[in-house]
Amino acid sequence: MTILSNGHLWKHTEFIENKNFTFNRNKILDSLSKKDIDDAYLSISKWENYSPTPLIELNKLSKELNLNKIFYKDESKRFDLKSFKALGGAYAVEKVSKDYKEIIVSTATAGNHGRSVAWGARRLGLKCKIFISEFVSDARGQAMADLGADVIKVKGNYENSLIECIKRSTENNWQIVQDVAWKNYITVPKYTMAGYTVMMKEVADYIDRTKISHIILQAGVGGMAGAMIAGVARYLKNTPVIIVVEPDSAACVLESIKTGKIEKIDIKRESLMGGMSCGEVSLVPWEILKNSVQYCISLPDDDIANTMKLLGNASFSNEKIIAGENSAPGVISLITSCEDEKIKEKMQLNKDSNVLLVGCEGDTDEEMYQKLINK
Ligand SMILES: Cc1ncc(COP(=O)(O)O)c(C=O)c1O
Repeated sequence: MTILSNGHLWKHTEFIENKNFTFNRNKILDSLSKKDIDDAYLSISKWENYSPTPLIELNKLSKELNLNKIFYKDESKRFDLKSFKALGGAYAVEKVSKDYKEIIVSTATAGNHGRSVAWGARRLGLKCKIFISEFVSDARGQAMADLGADVIKVKGNYENSLIECIKRSTENNWQIVQDVAWKNYITVPKYTMAGYTVMMKEVADYIDRTKISHIILQAGVGGMAGAMIAGVARYLKNTPVIIVVEPDSAACVLESIKTGKIEKIDIKRESLMGGMSCGEVSLVPWEILKNSVQYCISLPDDDIANTMKLLGNASFSNEKIIAGENSAPGVISLITSCEDEKIKEKMQLNKDSNVLLVGCEGDTDEEMYQKLINK
């Protein structure tokens, strides 16, 4: 009996095709420029302890799914922060403080972005104020305090923590380093996305002449997905099929792709995929995502823990992979797509496919990770 044929039914909630799909390299690089992307790689690749994260082949899974290769970009090895987020916030801190060495930086966060900002501030000897909602775990708050940040807990959800961050930062003249863009606040979120594009540069360097045929990208506010697509436009010669995956309780990209305009989701239940539980796509990524994403998939939380366990016990690859909650949906959506013949054919997933998945994080919350894999 194979891993996937043990009677378990892998499921997605919704699958849609983008009727406005058209991949335009130049238009994508108008939103996040070649210079922004190249500057980020030049800076980040010089940071102490920088090295590309591994690109692991899920060889056992590709065999079961009858695909040529599945590459898993393992961001659990990103510096000592265990998440791709380390590339974004910390790089934005470096950019905003370039000519202002005495500034205090601030941010609102669900966890990983704040850790990156705190870590970036510590690297440069800057003070840092982090606003978290009451729903952010104590372990995540402590991790930022351990990096020297002043952590401020705010009643309510992420949006309340952002409102408080903006209010206090305006009063005190702190420089906000947010990964979400809004009207008149575009430059800093662009820096965070430019930082994330380093992942695609590393993938392009590693795969050499192998052609990636499909990329599955997790989305919260869409920054990571938008950045990876900008990286595709900058570094890859071919255009892979691009798929976005989200929690079904917060599928803000999927709903926006459906109507062709930004739709706000009223989140009724917080997903286990915490970093992806976002109600509205951010402005800069939307400009990239709205035409270049070909398919969107939404998922329930049901298979997250099991997938983390299967990655962790080397069921999909020769080595064990520590994958957090937000790393599992790429794998799950690939499996559900391959198990549905119609979707598999539509997406042209076949024996020649080389699929790229982003393992965005490791055990960034160790307690939660242990709880889930031992479920
Ligand atoms: C830890 C974490 N946070 C957040 C996100 C979402 O990123 P973004 O909000 O840029 O779409 C992801 C992955 O999609 C993630 O792994």
